[in-house]
Amino acid sequence: MFNLESFDIKLDTDVIGRNFIYTEEADSTNTALLDKSAKFNEHGTVFFAEKQLKGKGRKDRVWYSAKDQNLTFSILLTDNKYFKRNLNFINFAASLAVAISIENLYQLNIDLKWPNDILISGKKTAGILLESQSQANVIERLVIGIGVNVNQTTFQGNFNIAPTSIRLELNEIVERERLLAEILNNLEQNLKTVLKNPKWILKEWKLRCRMIGEKISISENDKSKYGIFHDIDDDGFLLLRNGDKIEKIYFGDINIVL
Ligand code: BTN
Repeated sequence: MFNLESFDIKLDTDVIGRNFIYTEEADSTNTALLDKSAKFNEHGTVFFAEKQLKGKGRKDRVWYSAKDQNLTFSILLTDNKYFKRNLNFINFAASLAVAISIENLYQLNIDLKWPNDILISGKKTAGILLESQSQANVIERLVIGIGVNVNQTTFQGNFNIAPTSIRLELNEIVERERLLAEILNNLEQNLKTVLKNPKWILKEWKLRCRMIGEKISISENDKSKYGIFHDIDDDGFLLLRNGDKIEKIYFGDINIVL
């Protein structure tokens, strides 16, 4: 059982998570916050579910997460100053917050996989799904959905990348309350930094993206492209190099080619 009191003591934010909704079960925490009629409008609201019935992953995949063992939550942003800049930076700010939190609390090495997977020992530990709701092409609300495999030890299903959990990597049960508070604390800092010094976010993200320089394949809609992962540009897009030709990649799943 998630202990709200011990989470609250460790939460050190001004805004993010100050309005905290805890629920046993939801279809998807992202959907809960995207839905305008649900009356969650406060910037920084966090919606947490012990179990999602329709957990969503990127590219219409399903996000499986065992009840009571992991962290599945979403953060609502309604302050439009965050929507003016490229949303890649919000994605990076979120995955970096998860990475820094796991590094600080458990001294584990994190790999960030473009565009926003969080890996330990090459296996997926956490993922981010950003969704927005717009009116006449203007974003009104942005939802950052975060799923972290914390204490789950067995995984069933077909996975794009083999899954793991912090517990499996650490050989210890992990306190979810402390981890959630740490992620939200770091996320609040990172969101401020996106506005003030986005280059820092990019620099820290790239430091953990060890695929840069490797030969990769990128798949999108059943098509694959190959080349060297040259860099991530100032807007957060992947630069793929073939000889002296550099192509900008906006989305896709990447893999190292052995
Ligand atoms: C991915 O790596 O494919 C993204 C996974 C995102 C999962 C989280 S769990 C909380 C939030 N609610 C959802 O339905 N999805 C995100």
